[in-house]
Amino acid sequence: MKQHVLLVDNLSEAVGRLQQGGYDRIFVLTDTQTERLCRPLLGDSTSLFSPDIIIASTDAHKDLEALSQVWTFLQTHGATRHSLIICLGGGMVTDLGGFAAATFKRGIDFINVPTTLLAMVDAAVGGKTGVNFNGLKNEIGVFCPAQRVWIHTPFLRTLDAVNLRSGYAEMLKHALLNNVQAWAEHLDFDLAAPDFERLQKMVGESIALKQRIVAEDPQEHGLRKALNFGHTVGHAFETLSLRRQSPQLHGSCVAQGMICELYLSHVHRDFPLERLRQTVRYLIENYGRFEFSCDDYDTLYELMLHDKKNVGGVINFTFLGDVGRIFTDQHAEREEIYEAFDFLREG
Ligand code: GLY
Repeated sequence: MKQHVLLVDNLSEAVGRLQQGGYDRIFVLTDTQTERLCRPLLGDSTSLFSPDIIIASTDAHKDLEALSQVWTFLQTHGATRHSLIICLGGGMVTDLGGFAAATFKRGIDFINVPTTLLAMVDAAVGGKTGVNFNGLKNEIGVFCPAQRVWIHTPFLRTLDAVNLRSGYAEMLKHALLNNVQAWAEHLDFDLAAPDFERLQKMVGESIALKQRIVAEDPQEHGLRKALNFGHTVGHAFETLSLRRQSPQLHGSCVAQGMICELYLSHVHRDFPLERLRQTVRYLIENYGRFEFSCDDYDTLYELMLHDKKNVGGVINFTFLGDVGRIFTDQHAEREEIYEAFDFLREG
């Protein structure tokens, strides 16, 4: 299904128009922080609104307990198959809310209104929904695209620098998968003094690239694996940071993962050295280097071995032969992966 992603300037007017959608009730699902900062923008213009569903705001709460709370709320507030959920928040809200909607009474409509850059360019688009389970991220879930995604770019101006950088890492990933023009434009963007007009246009292009890939391979049997570029190593850093009790944002870990996977792309697929250097320089300048030593290599490798994208216990990568030249289902020797860690620490 082609997903409708719309730029929406006035969210409360858009909500008002839902009155004609044939829905019997509309539930807003959001988290404690977003409720305070962003919920007022949806207004109260529709008589269809039920009370809001408010969940805790961190990824640690993207679990069965929170999911059960959402299902219970829907049930006790009379939700039917003709009800709608508006998921207002970051990826945690759109992942969990999408899964709750996809499964309640075998599926009801939902609209994603992402409030972070990461959710706008990635989580809210493409139909991946789910929750964490038994300590594993996104272990339980289904593919189910939102009926609509509303992108309200003024939210971008409210983001702190760390969240802006986190989302931007996914945009840079999309640019690397796209073409040299997009890649060069992304390396030229000043994250310390963001030009929001320009960022808005780049967000639109980034979403369009993701939609093109998802339209070709919605359930990740082939090309969609390209969107995992930087994530095989990045997820290992993310989990390590959680274990150290100093969690780092997803996109920041993906930035580190991209440095390692660009190195491996150079070794395996001849990714051009000068482009590797330029990209790595930008990433290090904006994201720094993950603090780790060779004592962590075995742990990181073990974590990568448990990645759910692997087949037959072999670590699965996406490599690039150049900007826009994608090779999925790639492998690397353990020694090469350790060299990539060395490269990140010292290269
Ligand atoms: N976040 C990667 C994907 O949606 O496939």
